[in-house]
Amino acid sequence: METKQFKRVLFGGDYNPEQWPKEVWYRDMQILTKADINEATINVFSWAQLQPSEERYNFSTLDEIINLLTENHFQIILATSTGAVPAWMAKRYPEVERTDFQGRQHRFGGRHNACPNSPIFRMYGRRLASKLAERYGQLENVICWHISNEYGGQCYCDNCAKMFRVWLKRHYSSLDKVNEAWNTHFWGHTFYDWDEIFPPNELGDAIGVDNSTIAGLSIDYRRFMSDSMLQNYVDERDTIREFDSKTPITTNLMGTFKDLDYFKWAKEMDLVSWDNYPAYNTPYSFTAMSHDLMRGLKNGAPFMLMEQTPSQQNWQPFNSLKRPGQMRAMSYQAMAHGADTIQYFQLRQSRGATEKFHGAVISHADTDNTRVFKETASLGKELEALGTETLGGRTPAKVAIIFDWDNYWALEYASGPNVLLKYVDQIHRYYAAFYRQNIAIDMIPTNLSAKQMSKYDLVVAPVLYMVKPGVAEQLTKYVNDGGNFIITFMSGIVDEHDNVYIGGYPGPLRKLMGVWVEEFDALPPEKNYQIKFNDQTTSRCNLICDIIHLEGAETLATYDKGEFYQNTPVITQNNIGAGSAIYVGTQLGDEGLDHLVKDLINRFDWEHYKTPTGIEITRRVNDGQTLYYLVNNTDETATIEWPVSGVDLLSGQEVAEGKIRVAAFDVKIVKKR
Ligand code: GLA
Ligand code: ZN
Repeated sequence: METKQFKRVLFGGDYNPEQWPKEVWYRDMQILTKADINEATINVFSWAQLQPSEERYNFSTLDEIINLLTENHFQIILATSTGAVPAWMAKRYPEVERTDFQGRQHRFGGRHNACPNSPIFRMYGRRLASKLAERYGQLENVICWHISNEYGGQCYCDNCAKMFRVWLKRHYSSLDKVNEAWNTHFWGHTFYDWDEIFPPNELGDAIGVDNSTIAGLSIDYRRFMSDSMLQNYVDERDTIREFDSKTPITTNLMGTFKDLDYFKWAKEMDLVSWDNYPAYNTPYSFTAMSHDLMRGLKNGAPFMLMEQTPSQQNWQPFNSLKRPGQMRAMSYQAMAHGADTIQYFQLRQSRGATEKFHGAVISHADTDNTRVFKETASLGKELEALGTETLGGRTPAKVAIIFDWDNYWALEYASGPNVLLKYVDQIHRYYAAFYRQNIAIDMIPTNLSAKQMSKYDLVVAPVLYMVKPGVAEQLTKYVNDGGNFIITFMSGIVDEHDNVYIGGYPGPLRKLMGVWVEEFDALPPEKNYQIKFNDQTTSRCNLICDIIHLEGAETLATYDKGEFYQNTPVITQNNIGAGSAIYVGTQLGDEGLDHLVKDLINRFDWEHYKTPTGIEITRRVNDGQTLYYLVNNTDETATIEWPVSGVDLLSGQEVAEGKIRVAAFDVKIVKKR
């Protein structure tokens, strides 16, 4: 299923009329229609109203909301409301609330608060979803299901402990295998009975914020939690399917969010949707990468931009306004990277509680005469005029970056070598280097076959710390068959249980890379070294410095003066079969990464464009037709070299190849002639 079936660019967002008296609803209909809003995401947090007590359900308000939206020609994304449990449930069944890492069982409050392994929560969650599906599943304008909301977090309660043991039995079949996988003879952790195993916990086996002595246990607990919540999703999905076989089902994801293995989740989702909330200082490249990751979850299929704020957030430290024109630019940035919908949180601003200062299409002023409303309305008009031409487009990429949640968890649980080593940061450094050249990137999982990777000239795997079974073999085959591959320091270190590959780093990738890494030095933040490429170009380097022995690879760069490993190789290339494997043994400054990428551009002749920081050129291809997106994410004007002649679908004007002026927050979607 693809979003193409939406037949238009969905333009709308979260709408919570149940928080308002009815007169307000009628007013909303009038105002929202003026903005060409065609969709409302409803019922996200209404469980307490839909089921006022254990015995009673009441759908009358929801019926009215749906009727009103239908009369006013809105498409509806119907949420299941299981993202926050009702207070009566927490009171009667304390087990539905989570227990935290500190061992404290929570009382009622907040949201995203249910223990995923509470039988009561699971039973009532399923029941609510089934009642909703039975009642509304056949409505023509219910075009998508939105299960729960932003799944995430952890629970460490006794029910979770029990289910963790079941999960372990399924994965390991015997306790001996668990002991082996977790290397439990360390600090006398050997287990003789399944019931001796507990979730990591501050009162038990704890190190740091949520880690334990046995990192293998912590990683497995994360896998288990991600699977447990996925099971909650699947429970609801399957029960909806009993009543509604057609409508696509999703839940809203959160980009590089750590808690859930989204590649695994996406397999169970009909559509990927996600919530984009960059801060005022989030790099444009980071937002672009997050979109690309969400597109990558379903192998390049378009995704839904389920939420963004029309202007302001409330939960960040500094909730800056989006500048005039910025919301439009960010909406198109999402589209340029694969979004087929533009949706907001939320349509009407709350008057009470924690989100009252969160921006909305209709603000506290309660009028259409606001800057934000006018900008929304003019985007609505523009999207209406744009029609369906952007829907379904795919991104043609010759470069892929591997993103892997097991690696994310394992790398960040590792005690040593450098506390500043963060997984997403390392991925982003490489992404940003390609982004600076406007080179299209696909974000891919670790488990693709050589054949699946063969469409890429280059696969980059920053800090591929954990190499799971089969991965080294497929990467080796990919390179032998003509692919090119880059890894960095802290790669090929551990197996899927976080046990080190004995025999020298980078373990199973050693032969492919043609290097042996004997040691890695950790640099404190005040320390920088320098490296020198063969052509004498220099770059800063820091964080980690590998000490490398060549085993067939050639040297591309060496450490410059200053340390005991000066003049030894730091970047190497191994030519094997029809391809090549590049090892980067340190964290390069941007100038070093740029140098590397420029070398690759010379080798591969990829489409790339020179633009000032924050001005992006991207492409989406549909039925052989290429749309070139220009997005200026900045408030500065610039003159750039534009690559193609064609018509700008937004302005209707011809754009000729060559120098063009780009205004602040300017956007073009040029259909190539
Ligand atoms: C999240 C949630 C919404 C809302 C917004 C506010 O994305 O899904 O319910 O709280 O944040 O930014
Ligand atoms: Zn629990």
